[in-house]
Amino acid sequence: MTKTYTWPFLIAVLLASCTNQPETASTSPEQTESAGTWWKEGVLYQIYPQSFKDTDGDGFGDFQGVIEKLDYLQSLGITMVWMNPFFESPLVDNGYDVSDYRAILPRYGTMEDFDEMLAGLHERGIKFVLDVVVNHSSNEHEWFKQSRSSRDNPYRDYYHWWPAEKGDPPFRRSLFDPEGAWEYDSLTNAYYLHYFADAQPDLNWENPKVRQEVYDIMKFWAEKGVDGFRMDAFQFASKDTTFPKWPEGHEKDFIKWYGMRPQLHDYLKEMYEEVISKYDIFAVAEGAGSTFQDAHDLVDADRKELQMAYHFETVDMARTTDGYTLAEFREVFSRWDSAFVDQGWIAVFLSNHDNARLVDRFGNPDPAFRAVSTQMLNTFLLSMRGTPYTYYGDELGMTNVDMPNIEDYVDVAAIGDYKAAVAQGRDLEEFMQQLNYYSRENGRTPMQWDDTEYAGFTTGTPWKRVNENYREINVAAQDKNPNSVLNHFRKMTKLRTSNPVLVYGKYDLLDDEHPDIYAFTRTLDDEKILVLLNFSQDTSSIQLPGMVAAEEEPLINNYPSLEVAGNTYHLAAYQAVIIKIK
Ligand code: NOJ
Repeated sequence: MTKTYTWPFLIAVLLASCTNQPETASTSPEQTESAGTWWKEGVLYQIYPQSFKDTDGDGFGDFQGVIEKLDYLQSLGITMVWMNPFFESPLVDNGYDVSDYRAILPRYGTMEDFDEMLAGLHERGIKFVLDVVVNHSSNEHEWFKQSRSSRDNPYRDYYHWWPAEKGDPPFRRSLFDPEGAWEYDSLTNAYYLHYFADAQPDLNWENPKVRQEVYDIMKFWAEKGVDGFRMDAFQFASKDTTFPKWPEGHEKDFIKWYGMRPQLHDYLKEMYEEVISKYDIFAVAEGAGSTFQDAHDLVDADRKELQMAYHFETVDMARTTDGYTLAEFREVFSRWDSAFVDQGWIAVFLSNHDNARLVDRFGNPDPAFRAVSTQMLNTFLLSMRGTPYTYYGDELGMTNVDMPNIEDYVDVAAIGDYKAAVAQGRDLEEFMQQLNYYSRENGRTPMQWDDTEYAGFTTGTPWKRVNENYREINVAAQDKNPNSVLNHFRKMTKLRTSNPVLVYGKYDLLDDEHPDIYAFTRTLDDEKILVLLNFSQDTSSIQLPGMVAAEEEPLINNYPSLEVAGNTYHLAAYQAVIIKIK
């Protein structure tokens, strides 16, 4: 079967070659750099604002919608919210094309609404993480309008330009545009660079004025009270601006050639100095380089750069309908964990707005297994070391939608992939089958609040089709059921946030060859917790000599009971248990 590779997948190929595994050591907050850091101890919930809750009937989520759901957010037991971009934008890439970094897109509300939302979160003990999209801006940003207006405009060097009289610019791949990353602009007879869509010109980070503009924007939001920054596509910010010709096939090593230039670290140190160090704030990078060394160089505390990163190797495991194996899953998570035992910190996630739904990719969306397999995955995410990130709707087990026709897609990435498939003469039926499975549109459908029309998301016409299964999968129904996916999620956040062993405890993998069960312990000082997760739809058993439960009842169990005989644990389909060990 032909595989469809999107850009995060290419990144993952690189990361898969990281094999350095430092020795594990017993960790406790006192012994490591981890001590007392709120963003390590928290649970992050990601809101895609466009799809969360609409209150004015325009079919588009808004800040007042989030305000209406503040108590729901608090009831989840989460401690941080990361919200995708809500700034002024022509929405070519749903807000990842910002035309004014200090203005709110009116569809979301006003700055007063933002302040009210932020205050409401803070009152409930929830921190706010802002999406900072500064590898590129929108082509409708004033900087770009000025920049393209003439070759001697003071903003010319805010972007990367290649004068046409020098001939064709050296090839650069674009992640969204099959025609490449240089776009010709006749106004000044020059090409500009865009690693993403042509409406997203890359900012020139080598220009100190650009960097200062970015720090000023970050300070503006920090002064408003945001608690964290998520740095979009940040590993690509710094480039070799001599634009040499690169060897054939270079685009397969995307990070090495396109990003992570050494000077990126100087800029991050500068950003730390100018912004991060001045507030009780953290910054998380989208992307962690292509080696563990790269990742450590970004996030280790003594570097004074960023505080956390997330890598793509795990989410990219299940990017095609071929799926993934438990062996791969366990190996990837264990390898990344072992690389961050003593230094640095990473996020743990399996889904976000750039991916299809958690249960479709890593669990089992069959109605017989959807709930238990989502509970199992949420148990995993919330018991692993690293800050857990949950994407809205995954606390309910929301699923993919069926979109077999390209005409139904609006996402710039999906359309770019389709154009590339056409240009390459691929089998389009097979391509559409894959797109329907992996497309990020699957993860952007309206939140399913109840079983009324449009799932209670809007009184108007939703910008995106609501998943037909909203009558069964919705907050109102799950709220009432103590065994629902939602209530399991709440139990897990409570366990996580009240047990430092789940945050800082040493991770040890058990029985790394088991075909179905992922078993590991977390240990902190004299506390030990056993996590058992059956990744299969069949019952499965695991022998664990020496693992004696300290209490009769497991701390977490997504089934009414657990069968144990001697040192053998029998797990039902997708059963997930957490047991305190003597
Ligand atoms: C990464 C974001 O997560 C994605 O949604 C966006 O399309 C690209 N960066 C470009 O900003």
